[in-house]
Amino acid sequence: MSSQYENPFRPGAGHKPPYLAGRTSEQDEMKRYLAQSVITQNIILTGLRGVGKTVLLETFRPIAFEAGWLWAGADLSEAASVTENALATRIVADISLVTSALVEYEQTRLGLGFVQTEQIIRQPLNFEILRAKYESTPGLVADKLKAILEFAWSVLPQSRIKGIVFAYDEAQNLSDHSSKGQYPLALLLEVFQSLQRKGLPYFLVLTGLPTLFPKLVEARTYAERMFHIIFLKQLDEAASKEAIEKPFENSGCGMVFSPETVKQIIKMSGGYPYFIQYICKEVFDVWITRASSGQISAVPEKDIIRKLDTDFFQGRWSKVTDRQRELLQVIAGLDTCDDEFTVQEIVVESREVLDKGFSASHVNQMLGSLSESGLVFKNRLGRYSLAVPLLSQFIRRQRIP
Ligand SMILES: Nc1ncnc2c1ncn2[C@@H]1O[C@H](COP(=O)(O)OP(=O)(O)O)[C@@H](O)[C@H]1O
Ligand SMILES: [Mg+2]
Repeated sequence: MSSQYENPFRPGAGHKPPYLAGRTSEQDEMKRYLAQSVITQNIILTGLRGVGKTVLLETFRPIAFEAGWLWAGADLSEAASVTENALATRIVADISLVTSALVEYEQTRLGLGFVQTEQIIRQPLNFEILRAKYESTPGLVADKLKAILEFAWSVLPQSRIKGIVFAYDEAQNLSDHSSKGQYPLALLLEVFQSLQRKGLPYFLVLTGLPTLFPKLVEARTYAERMFHIIFLKQLDEAASKEAIEKPFENSGCGMVFSPETVKQIIKMSGGYPYFIQYICKEVFDVWITRASSGQISAVPEKDIIRKLDTDFFQGRWSKVTDRQRELLQVIAGLDTCDDEFTVQEIVVESREVLDKGFSASHVNQMLGSLSESGLVFKNRLGRYSLAVPLLSQFIRRQRIP
């Protein structure tokens, strides 16, 4: 098959979309915060799974370079368990990538032999050297880490760079998977706050699920003042349209979606980037086998939804108990289910639709375990939201007729 039939759409965590739609205001915000003369505000990029945090964070990287910043950081999603030491090692490793590219480090060593001679060795300031310095610094993990980061800045070519951005994706992992008695989130906040107070241009960008910010504030109350929050939502109508149409225009495949098809895909996807990629990929595959050019004028909606249910939702649903499913059914019946809802609203609704309604304490307790399994989350005002996009529609589809 020639490349013009290659499917341009990319549903998948962190996969660069064929066309990144919208998000210019978020990129402008990043630019604004990079212009701070002293860093007092860091950024949290948050939102539901599949809304586009990772790919937006990737676009911040060239924006930072252009503004004179260097970039360090990592994806924390793989970390099975996080200790303070593990996080410190991570950060030392991240800064060492920057220093080893830019700094020649001189070390004096005693030469071998009877006559003591001094030898000067020059090498890039790499992880081994920084790690050794870290180990030999007295104090707690936070003290050691601060010392290393201060040292690193002192030897970097300051006239040529504005500072260093530390970007951590899936940062909620730092608390979700921290070992007992370990506070990696608190460590991160303390170290960066202390360095920023001293005027060091280390800028933190954390990405994560909506549970991230409440967890940061729980770890250190001053986190509240340290971060500007960018809450990513679904794409608006115009951006959704671009996300659907542009990849075709750019691919030269000779096919376009009809206006009705575009509308239908926007409706089915709710404007959520992951679903746009997913649905468009399916539609493209179906149509490429039928016609090599022309208009795509219908979407096999039922088939796509069935496939999406299996691929995306079923795994999560299978981990939910019968009673929890009942609760989720009640929630999916609320007018506000796609926004925010309260325990009280659930209790009232449950009395209307179930033979035996839920008590407030029961709802509270079940929402707690549903939060742990990542299906709902509680915001800082104590209200709840569904934590998976378009989950309410899926739940309603599971209703026993
Ligand atoms: N602005 C956008 N326009 C088009 N597609 C996008 C956009 N943002 C994300 N996507 C697509 O959506 C999917 C999920 O993006 P991702 O960044 O992994 O989300 P998150 O990190 O929030 O879970 C990917 O397939 C990506 O290509
Ligand atoms: Mg992501």
